[in-house]
Amino acid sequence: ARQSGRARRRAACPGCPAHAAPSRRMDPIEDTLQRLREAFNAGRTRPATFRAAQLRALGRFLQDNKQLLQDALAQDLHKSAFESDISELILCENEVDLALRNLQAWMQDKPAATNLTKLDSAFIRKEPFGLVLIIAPWNYPLNLTLVPLVGALAAGNCVVLKPSEISKATEKVLAEVLPQYLDQSCFAVLLGGPQETEQLLEHKFDYILFTGSPRVGRIVMTAAAKHLTPVTLELGGKNPCYVDDNCDPQTVANRVAWFRYFNAGQTCVAPDYILCSPETQERLLPALQSAITRFYGDDPQSSPDLGRIINQKQFQRLRALLGCGRVAIGGQSDESQRYIAPTVLVDVQETEPVMQEEIFGPILPIVSVRSLDEAIDFINRREKPLALYAFSNSSQVVNQMLDRTSSGNFGGNEGFIYMTLPSLPLGGVGNSGMGRYHGKFSFDTFSHHRTCLLSHAGLEKLKEIRYPPYTAWTQQMISWALASQSCTLL
Ligand SMILES: *[C@@H]1O[C@H](CO)[C@@H](O)[C@H](O)[C@H]1NC(C)=O
Ligand SMILES: *[C@@H]1O[C@H](CO)[C@@H](O)[C@H](O)[C@H]1NC(C)=O
Ligand SMILES: *[C@@H]1O[C@H](CO)[C@@H](O)[C@H](O)[C@H]1NC(C)=O
Repeated sequence: ARQSGRARRRAACPGCPAHAAPSRRMDPIEDTLQRLREAFNAGRTRPATFRAAQLRALGRFLQDNKQLLQDALAQDLHKSAFESDISELILCENEVDLALRNLQAWMQDKPAATNLTKLDSAFIRKEPFGLVLIIAPWNYPLNLTLVPLVGALAAGNCVVLKPSEISKATEKVLAEVLPQYLDQSCFAVLLGGPQETEQLLEHKFDYILFTGSPRVGRIVMTAAAKHLTPVTLELGGKNPCYVDDNCDPQTVANRVAWFRYFNAGQTCVAPDYILCSPETQERLLPALQSAITRFYGDDPQSSPDLGRIINQKQFQRLRALLGCGRVAIGGQSDESQRYIAPTVLVDVQETEPVMQEEIFGPILPIVSVRSLDEAIDFINRREKPLALYAFSNSSQVVNQMLDRTSSGNFGGNEGFIYMTLPSLPLGGVGNSGMGRYHGKFSFDTFSHHRTCLLSHAGLEKLKEIRYPPYTAWTQQMISWALASQSCTLL
């Protein structure tokens, strides 16, 4: 109430600049955050009507600027319109629609059981945290920026968006065009690289969602710990893909190749390496070659459907990985275009760099294992991955893989299609992250689940039984009430 009083006084003083602070301020970030906090504290983002208006504006941003966004994605990653549509634009539009359709229901208090004292009402209220920071990566620079944003806005927060400086063209659209659609008293885009982000993280936020590497995830969580700010960390890892002997190699090759080479392999949930027997490897290789040729032609470099590596640093890192094991398919690269051919490596040693780091490029090593048990041991010896895939015509094999391992997400005989279902959350476990989002899970992630009990203002006679001096009789009464879990007298 004090805050809104201040806001009112300010509105009554048209000469006062909107974000003039009471004291002199040097830090432009602090200014922005102060402005958002004031809007939040004044209750601006709480009404459902305001949230819906912001979501509709976000939907308009996507529709009005479709071509601009596709061009930006093509410039950053040579992303084809098809891949932009299905993995970035349509996905974001769907999230906006879903949130708009369900906003009322999601916002509703969730009643909890109360018995005996039916006069009490117990419920869980989903209330906004306040000021949310979303730090997004460059590989799906729209999807991984706007999908969390939908959840944060729907939940009634003020939001600071930090898009990746590496996907420059998309960053520009997000910084220059998106703010024209959203309410600027509650929303800001801040720019910069690692240094600026580090400075940003020194400030206090009420929630942080970060998508990126486990290395930077540690930096974010350390900074958040100083303020006890809760975090969702969407990290990566090496996603195993087990291929059973009992399978049709061409079917498996098609599916694995599409998901591996989609966005030139720069996908956190892509299959990172194949685990299979030497016999299955022999059957898979020609099938993978055939899939790659069918998808991208004899010269994949001239295919409009294959992406490029985001920058020189990533390109050099990936080119070095081509020296691991033996190239069975592909292996070509062209620095001037940051092109790396869809590649399959065999005879790879566990100790080589390609099996030590997340590949994040169009390179697929095959590691030999003799059995399902050996594959499971191999997986369980490593950090928990963000995703795990198992291909087999035997559902028993798929289920064993599911039962005996752990990962953020699991795909049986399919790639990361689960990401298109808003009914399923996306999130890691262990080294691949914590927390989850998508659809209603996003709303819940960005809401504090507040425990509420509203009791009767009267009935004091009934409640007096709990006060000292305690007697044997009142102790018995209370014990009975507690044991039967039927009372909220206490
Ligand atoms: C959204 O981005 C993630 C980034 O890892 C990507 O894997 C996913 O494919 C995208 N969504 C869809 C539906 O493709
Ligand atoms: C399973 O077997 C059927 C029949 O042979 C085949 O058509 C299908 O592609 C196989 N699926 C996989 C994932 O191997
Ligand atoms: C009272 O609450 C407990 C715990 O929630 C529940 O198990 C029990 O069925 C309830 N009793 C009645 C009469 O509703």
